[in-house]
Amino acid sequence: MNEQILKTTAKYLVADGKGILAADESTASANKRFALVHVDETEENRRAYREILITTPEARGILSGIIFYDETFWQSTADGKSFISYCVDAGILPGIKVDEGLVELPGFPGEKITKGLDALPPRMEKYRDAGAKFAKWRAVIAIGPGTPTDELIRANAFILARYARICQDYDIVPIVEPEVLFDGTHTIEECDAVMVRVYDTLFAFMKELRVYLPGAILKTSMVIPGKDSGIAMDPKDVAERTVRALHDHVPHELGGVVFLSGGQTPTQAFLNLDAIAKKSPHPWGVTFSFSRALQDPVLKYWSEHRNDTNGAMDVFAHQLKIAVDARNGKLETSALGDDFVSGSQDL
Ligand code: 13P
Repeated sequence: MNEQILKTTAKYLVADGKGILAADESTASANKRFALVHVDETEENRRAYREILITTPEARGILSGIIFYDETFWQSTADGKSFISYCVDAGILPGIKVDEGLVELPGFPGEKITKGLDALPPRMEKYRDAGAKFAKWRAVIAIGPGTPTDELIRANAFILARYARICQDYDIVPIVEPEVLFDGTHTIEECDAVMVRVYDTLFAFMKELRVYLPGAILKTSMVIPGKDSGIAMDPKDVAERTVRALHDHVPHELGGVVFLSGGQTPTQAFLNLDAIAKKSPHPWGVTFSFSRALQDPVLKYWSEHRNDTNGAMDVFAHQLKIAVDARNGKLETSALGDDFVSGSQDL
């Protein structure tokens, strides 16, 4: 492992004024989102849609990295330039989602762990050789009656730490993503308590398994009340709790912290990110790694104006500008548009 390379990559990903686009929806997730807006679920449509995101001129200078799914990682623009070399030329680091989805944790009904560790080293070598600089692995933690159990949190934390150490052997920065799900009726206090348990367990395993922390990034949910709780979201409270949980439970030598949007509306995600940024300084670079909050308005526009590539790029440029203003704590609320949410991730 080359610690200098890992640390430099991590710093670049969370550098001032930049953020990450998550475009790593699995084929199944991408198809679900297409179906919702009546776009045919074909490989070519998935490619063409991702090409719009990647080649939007404003993405240069704002995006530090893009996370790809295997199918997209190997695709090219319509005029034949691979997405990976396009990113490299644009100063955008290519990343790859390497987990292989969720399976039940036997004995723990309804609780899930993430699979994909077994053949990970040779896959990582292949992605490294093709230009990947960072990777992502998502674990999900649902809040419900009696859940998450400590066993579920420990199982996911162990797997995340194993994955992270494998990445680092290939000089690839691991993004560890223990997503505490927005779904549910829990209160913000319950979310807060679960997040703190998750962070404590995850970083204990990361240290035990000799992960180089300055060369790793945490991708986390925000501390928010459950989607079906009926509790209104207050960005000040969200920021207060999210920042306290992070500052007190995430090692300060870590390489960075990024947020997922997790099914919040784009408006909620940006207002919360802005409130979190306003509570700086933070011990690490803190920024966005959104999929839905950045993409949903673009997908909606493109589905309604399939031949207007420039228009779709303008919508994405607008989302990027809002995201960067929010990550800088300088969001103008007048810039926020109508919300459209495309549905859930793979569960
Ligand atoms: P969302 O921003 O849509 O939650 O996606 C981010 C992500 O990468 C989830 O794994």
